[in-house]
Amino acid sequence: MSQKTIAVVGATGAQGGGLVRAILADPGAGFAARALTRNATSDKARALAQAGAEVVAADLDDAASLRRAFEGAYGAFCVTAFWEHFSAEKEQSQARHMAQAAKDAGVAHVIWSTLEDTRLRVPLEDARMPTLQGKYKVPHYDGKGEANAFFTALGVPTTFLNTSFYWDNLIHFGSGPKKGPDGKLAFVLPMGDKKLPGMAVEDIGRCAFGIFKRPDLIGKTVGIAGEHLTGAQMAAALSKALGQPVVHNAVTPEVYRGFGFPGADDLGNMFQYKAEFEAEYCGARDLAFSRSLNPQLQTFAQWLAANKDRIPLG
Ligand SMILES: NC(=O)c1ccc[n+]([C@@H]2O[C@H](COP(=O)([O-])OP(=O)(O)OC[C@H]3O[C@@H](n4cnc5c(N)ncnc54)[C@H](OP(=O)(O)O)[C@@H]3O)[C@@H](O)[C@H]2O)c1
Repeated sequence: MSQKTIAVVGATGAQGGGLVRAILADPGAGFAARALTRNATSDKARALAQAGAEVVAADLDDAASLRRAFEGAYGAFCVTAFWEHFSAEKEQSQARHMAQAAKDAGVAHVIWSTLEDTRLRVPLEDARMPTLQGKYKVPHYDGKGEANAFFTALGVPTTFLNTSFYWDNLIHFGSGPKKGPDGKLAFVLPMGDKKLPGMAVEDIGRCAFGIFKRPDLIGKTVGIAGEHLTGAQMAAALSKALGQPVVHNAVTPEVYRGFGFPGADDLGNMFQYKAEFEAEYCGARDLAFSRSLNPQLQTFAQWLAANKDRIPLG
């Protein structure tokens, strides 16, 4: 039986890397991994090649390179790297290139790693949160959500995948507990008593692999999460795992936006959106469905058990 090649954008990164590892870990499933990267000679790219992936150079800003990289592939996993540039416009241009390349190469199943366009619930004139970059409420969500239409308009057979907050942000994104003036660890989450859908980023790739095994999900929008947890629940799990008390610091979204680090306003709006539309946002990320795609789906406690020593406690 010939193998179905999945072209994986972001293969050296978190989401795509998880997908490549999931494909390579299940050779009997009939899929092969093609890892796309801007730099095929980087250490990460070489490691993917050594692990059994085909490594191909491609740049999301170069439509022709994507077209070549998607050629002959059964599937394509499409993701953008918003936090490299903070530009929803650039993200949209890159999504447009991926949709066109998938169309031109005749890819049979695309997964577009997207997020909600928050403006459908919070229009720009709604003053509850500031408008950012001129035409967005949550730029790193809205740009992706708006880009869904590029895939639809071209008739690309796409599964729209709404992902969740990575628990790995506690390691890599400065979201871990911080020591306050009293010396106690506090976990900042500006969502009051509302639940945050979260997951181990490695599980996003595993769920994506599950989606590629389910052609019936083409044309559908699906959402995934490992657990829906309040800040207090996350702080309790952190306390247990770290062996020292961690309190939940539920600052308001307004205070969070004022923290001033790059993207604080975008993330403050994002957390406010997730809190104010808790039912819809959690409802769009069904846990049993996520587990059906990926039986290895981790809970926060499981993720913490494996990763607690990697969380910087500032
Ligand atoms: N943090 C969260 O909680 C969270 C939750 C949901 C969604 N997201 C979204 O996830 C996305 C990032 O995904 P990630 O975390 O998997 O990324 P990541 O780990 O930061 O890695 C970025 C990947 O994108 C590739 N890349 C970047 N620019 C490229 C370009 N111009 N051409 C080709 N490849 C390019 C990089 O490959 P090379 O460097 O090898 O070229 C790398 O593999 C963001 O858009 C973010 O909004 C994040």
